[in-house]
Amino acid sequence: MKVFENYNLKNDNTFHLNVIAKKVIVIEKEEELIQLKDILNNSRFLILGGGSNVLFLNEYFDGVIIKNEMKGKEIIHQTEEEILLKINSGENWHNIVMWSVENNWNGIENLALIPGNVGAAPVQNIGAYGVEIKDVLESVRFFNVETQQFQILNNNECLFSYRNSIFKNELKDKVFITNITIRLRKQNHIYRLDYGNIKDELNKMNIKELSPKIIAQAVINIRQSKLPNPNEIGNAGSFFKNPEVDETKFSELKKRFPDIVAFPTADGKYKLAAGWMIEKCGLKGYVHKGAAVHYKQALVLINQNNASGKDIYELAQIIIRKIFDTFAVTLESEVNIIQ
Ligand code: FAD
Ligand code: EPU
Repeated sequence: MKVFENYNLKNDNTFHLNVIAKKVIVIEKEEELIQLKDILNNSRFLILGGGSNVLFLNEYFDGVIIKNEMKGKEIIHQTEEEILLKINSGENWHNIVMWSVENNWNGIENLALIPGNVGAAPVQNIGAYGVEIKDVLESVRFFNVETQQFQILNNNECLFSYRNSIFKNELKDKVFITNITIRLRKQNHIYRLDYGNIKDELNKMNIKELSPKIIAQAVINIRQSKLPNPNEIGNAGSFFKNPEVDETKFSELKKRFPDIVAFPTADGKYKLAAGWMIEKCGLKGYVHKGAAVHYKQALVLINQNNASGKDIYELAQIIIRKIFDTFAVTLESEVNIIQ
């Protein structure tokens, strides 16, 4: 366990905001969590993975950051058909995707290039290009700070839905996820190619035979063409969730905006493309103080010029108001706002 005081988190949050944390504790092993008992019970704390889905509002974090560097991965079971992997939460998610596709294992290739750690993946049920982590997840193990016990939840118990899980609700800020178990296919691969422009990208790549590795590459190409690289431009991916509306609301919007972009959901609703809505309001590229709406992808807010957390937050409020005035739909942030 390593401990730092008055530590600048600039390289630990992908908005690259200057935030001084009163204390940072780096955890490398499960056992170290038990030693944190008193600290966790007596101070405000935040568990941080790669910091790619957080917005710090203030320049000082008056509490303890628990930085997760619990590495390790292992094969726990396999048959001819499937493989079960246990992955510690401090591993980098994209590296795990690359490890899986190098081995020709199928299931998470569409989730390539999502920044951050394995431990945060179940928190918001990461998703991209028609796949979510819930599609491969067997179980999540965590340390419950309140009960001081290690616990395991299976897939159903995690209450996954679009960008949501029990870890964002009932168990928010109460548990430290230590590892996850996922099930991938070794043969009889099932590919998800129906989302967005994956097929177009595969055609462009002139692909003769599909494999998890090829699909991961197609996803990487698409993502690199529109999403800003957080190492170059501070951002946290989509700032807002795509809002879901019922059929009545959707028909009304469709009449007023015939070109509206929306996708039907399994439960009879419509998921509206918030990026399209923001662009339609003329806010693509809009600048507010040091913050801006990304010029290629309007759902992404960026730290354009030494923005503060408040600049980015104010920009988000301007967008929420404008979207509400135009469409009577309320956008919800996907990024975790840290007060
Ligand atoms: P952090 O930002 O460090 O933490 C996020 C939340 O999880 C916090 O509330 C934190 O307290 C909690 N948390 C983290 N680790 C643990 C743990 N071990 N135990 C308990 N709680 C924990 N997301 C998608 O779903 N799909 C995308 O396509 C996508 N694309 C992105 C593209 C870019 C360029 C960027 C910057 C972000 C993107 N994201 C996407 C968002 C982000 O990458 C994911 O949410 C990712 O899972 C966050 O991982 P992290 O380790 O950085 O989490
Ligand atoms: N669009 C516009 N203008 C824009 C942005 C998007 O018109 O400025 C339109 C696109 O043309 C497209 C539609 O909106 O028709 C959807 O856009 P895109 O495919 O880029 O995806 P998204 O809905 O903006 C979601 C996720 C991403 C994920 C991609 C791919 C959410 C909140 N975001 O974005 O996840 O990578 O789909 O699956 O669901 C993240 O969560 O941080 C994230 C990046």
